[in-house]
Amino acid sequence: MKETFYITTPIYYPSGRYHIGTAYTTVLADTIKRYNKLKGKETYMLTGADEHGQKIEKKSKEANKTPKEYVDEMAEMAKTLWKKMDIQYDDFIRTTEERHEKIVQKIFDKFMEQGDIYKGEYEGLYCIPCETFFTETQLVDGKCPDCGREVVPMKEESYFFNMKKYADKLLKYYDEHSDFIKPEYRKQEMINNFIKPGLEDLCVTRTSFDWGIKVLKDPKHVVYVWLDALTNYITALGYMSEDETLFKKFWPADVQLVGKDIARFHLIYWPIFLMALDLPLPKTIFVHNWIMMKDGKMSKSKGNVIYPEDLIDRYGLDATKYFLLREMPTSQDGLFSPEEFIQRYNFDLCNDLSNLLNRTVSMVNKYFNGQVPEYNGTPNEVDKEIEEKCTEQIEKFETLFENFEIANSIQEIWNLIARTNKYIDETMPWQLAKEEQTEKLKSSMYHLIENLRKIAILIKPFMNETSENILNQIGIKDEKLKTWQSMQEYDKLNGIKVIEKGEPIFMRLNTEEEMEYIRNVMKK
Ligand code: ME8
Repeated sequence: MKETFYITTPIYYPSGRYHIGTAYTTVLADTIKRYNKLKGKETYMLTGADEHGQKIEKKSKEANKTPKEYVDEMAEMAKTLWKKMDIQYDDFIRTTEERHEKIVQKIFDKFMEQGDIYKGEYEGLYCIPCETFFTETQLVDGKCPDCGREVVPMKEESYFFNMKKYADKLLKYYDEHSDFIKPEYRKQEMINNFIKPGLEDLCVTRTSFDWGIKVLKDPKHVVYVWLDALTNYITALGYMSEDETLFKKFWPADVQLVGKDIARFHLIYWPIFLMALDLPLPKTIFVHNWIMMKDGKMSKSKGNVIYPEDLIDRYGLDATKYFLLREMPTSQDGLFSPEEFIQRYNFDLCNDLSNLLNRTVSMVNKYFNGQVPEYNGTPNEVDKEIEEKCTEQIEKFETLFENFEIANSIQEIWNLIARTNKYIDETMPWQLAKEEQTEKLKSSMYHLIENLRKIAILIKPFMNETSENILNQIGIKDEKLKTWQSMQEYDKLNGIKVIEKGEPIFMRLNTEEEMEYIRNVMKK
């Protein structure tokens, strides 16, 4: 039986078009899913839409629509974008679907019966856009600590989830499971900022609006959005339904991805809900940082928002994904700027990768009529070194990638590309040809093709089309030579012929013109 791999993104608010920052979580999930699939696992990726709550009710009114009409339209918009970005999700859950709503009601009842949920009155400062109550001490400059907007005093009869009861158990769990929270420093943040100062019980219902899931035994209450939203990760798998096949197969999740703004909900409340349900916790919750602009957060009012479609239409999907993944460090925010985007395109994709392919394909055509020489079995010093380097880089990539250090892992692929370009200068094939050192020339061509094949496999999880294009240009048609496992092989390229005239996979861009283009679409 294949090893399984379940990965989730947060379910998105239907609050308008997604910019490149919002799209990041899903691009990352898709990349991690594809990597694990390539490694032979049976993968399952979940994404979706978080469609209840006061904020949505308000938005739909503004748009002169019923909440249902509004969320239907938004879900279609999201799916269209994910299609354009070739996101291979296996399920798209919407919290307004019956399969979700029914189970949330069951979960709520179970918590009531167990005494985890009790009735009380809530008085607090509420951030409407974030749908979250805050205590005075949590506010930053008197404003919402998550979005920076005004909070308003609110009071209402509410049900509460007894979080305090689980605080020690949660700390113990953190302590005993070092892979549970990544990166590690997020764990300390949770402990210092929220758990140690004393966990507040969480208000889990509202009476002030009704666009939500009704509490069956007290229908003037609707379930508060976070209890509703977080459970999507298990309701989507059929938990507590008539058919729990997927749940049994895929839960606990291997990794759940979340942006830093929603870390608290996923690292504290979510594990506690799972503990209360007596379910295993996800193996890892990975918290990523944000993509920022030079002048801070992306916002329409600042005119600095960049949408994925605008980059994809002009530079292609692969270049867009490459930039997003490559520019997001693990320990701080990533930065988008038109200069940086064009630079990465011109240097990394065009100079380094595209040129390596072009030079290699044209040399194999020139010296061997396109026929890739066979491996001679006895590599000389330089060739041995490039073989070892290649193996070393693949290992480095895997270690970093599996630790979610994605930008660093991609850097290792580009180190291999740089090393391979250098190998051309070291072996000087044109000199070898002139001196008729045929064996050395053959070996040099063989190793170049072999490295390109491996580079193509390494980039496949996030640059699928480019990967296929490279493999096609170097004549790799056999599916067995495209697998992750095949990167361990060194002598299997017999009878391969490169393409006669390969088109460059990335063409150099005019920096000024393109910066102008990007600046203009940002103002749209
Ligand atoms: O938070 N850079 O949904 P959402 C990187 N419905 N990531 C960013 C970003 C940026 N500039 N801006 C937003 C929600 N994101 C809830 C989730 S889950 C049970 C409920 C990320 O639509 C953000 O961190 O506001 C989150 O991971 C995702 O976009 C969706 O955010």
